[in-house]
Amino acid sequence: MYRKVTLLTLAVVVITLYNCTTNTIDEVEIEDLPPIVEQITYVDDVAPIINGNCVGCHSGPSANAGLQLDGYANARAGVEQGNVLNRINNASNPMPPTGQLPATDRQIIEQWAADGFLED
Ligand code: HEC
Repeated sequence: MYRKVTLLTLAVVVITLYNCTTNTIDEVEIEDLPPIVEQITYVDDVAPIINGNCVGCHSGPSANAGLQLDGYANARAGVEQGNVLNRINNASNPMPPTGQLPATDRQIIEQWAADGFLED
């Protein structure tokens, strides 16, 4: 009897610990974040994210998928007329291909669009 209880307790502890370790910070989603109150601009907020994570593959004549994201006009067109918001938020087929950007970065790009694409 005691042995069964001990095994059961052990199982519960193991399962609980497993759940804790798999619940990583990556699962934070944009809707879990506090709303952004300060003004988002391309120069201050968006360019560092896109230049650091996207333009390596998305600039110049050989840009992947023909999509150029370097500079204000290209980045704006990609968000406004293209699939940028869909792909950065697509967990199963994300951009960048190595994995989704942190929710805080994705929220900044969404807020930039919502605020009307301020440049600086
Ligand atoms: C390692 C290279 C690489 C990086 C980095 C990268 N991409 Fe891509 N991207 C690709 C490739 C290859 C494709 C075409 C295949 C596909 O759609 O999955 C693509 C396709 C896309 C598309 C679809 C274009 C269309 O016409 O529908 C979008 C939107 C996009 N990327 C946005 C981004 C954004 C935004 C970032 C940065 C957050 C980014 N990508 C970073 C390689 C990259």
